[in-house]
Amino acid sequence: MKRILVTGALGQIGSELVPALREKHGSDNVVASDIRMPARRQERQAPFEYVDCTARRMIDEVVRKYEIGTIYHLASLLSAVAEEKPHVAWDVNMGGLYRVLEVARENGCAVFFPSSIGAFGASTPKDGTPQDTLQRPTTMYGVTKVAGELLCDYYHGRFGVDTRGLRYPGLISHVAPPGGGTTDYAVEIFYEAIRNRRYTCFLGADTRLDMMYMPDAIKAAIDLMEADPERLVHRNAFNVTAVNFTPEQLAAEIGKHIPEFTIAYDVDPVRQAIADSWPNSLDDSAAREEWGWDPKYDLATLVADMLENLERKLARG
Ligand code: NAD
Ligand code: SER
Repeated sequence: MKRILVTGALGQIGSELVPALREKHGSDNVVASDIRMPARRQERQAPFEYVDCTARRMIDEVVRKYEIGTIYHLASLLSAVAEEKPHVAWDVNMGGLYRVLEVARENGCAVFFPSSIGAFGASTPKDGTPQDTLQRPTTMYGVTKVAGELLCDYYHGRFGVDTRGLRYPGLISHVAPPGGGTTDYAVEIFYEAIRNRRYTCFLGADTRLDMMYMPDAIKAAIDLMEADPERLVHRNAFNVTAVNFTPEQLAAEIGKHIPEFTIAYDVDPVRQAIADSWPNSLDDSAAREEWGWDPKYDLATLVADMLENLERKLARG
């Protein structure tokens, strides 16, 4: 089989996508890459390459060396970091994607591109946001996500590159920490609940956003890339969602397991403004119809599983 390359592989998603792909396709067939080096020795034993996605030569060399057939392009700056460093975000998010697409065009690779709820803006319908709707984001992150979706569609229509993408909501996981997004509170809260029994949230109590547990996010990416292309009406990018809550509701669910847990609020105006510009909830019926999207985790099962895994991880030190 042609091999798989994952860029930005040491981040929150890549840390779980790479093992899932290796489990499915064999370790030697999945090449992890990043601009950081793996911390653990066993991760260095499987194929790992230093690849800066803004350097086309590096992507090209790895794709040719390993005969790559599919690129999961995860390297990116997330919403809060991108707002702090908009120029770097443009270079990494757009420059990286453009170079990945060019290498894919020349080498016949398929490309997975993760878009986001950040691809929407304040003028988008907020509840049950449709698959096809207004996209006028006001953040640099959102600008790069909309432009990225369009660029992926262009490379498919113009050059026949098999590009596919998802608009992920906030992702919750216990393996690797989140990389500087607006939805990071929904991960931090678990660490603080276990360590200190209290958490001060940087978003307001009633900020409603869609979220998803990482096992569902990984399954979505792999299922989409393996879906029958004949069934795909849309490509870049599918709305996907799994759970929907406010910080207050997440805290209440955690409180069922840790009764002494308390939440307080110290709102960060920058991240609050970003969150307020995003949809309250997405309509993901296109993903369900076109490639069978069907998440497994709801709020109760997500919280129970997060607490169990994180308690074990933190106990190990
Ligand atoms: P992350 O910040 O945890 O990881 C990104 C990785 O990219 C890091 O390991 C970083 O070292 C690497 N990187 C940065 N610049 C690079 C470069 N120039 N070349 C190569 N690697 C570079 O991000 P993540 O949460 O794993 O997200 C991956 C993708 O999914 C991003 O496109 C993100 O926008 C998207 N996404 C994530 C979420 C979420 O909640 N995590 C939600 C929606 C969309
Ligand atoms: N979780 C991501 C962020 O907050 C959404 O794309 O940036």
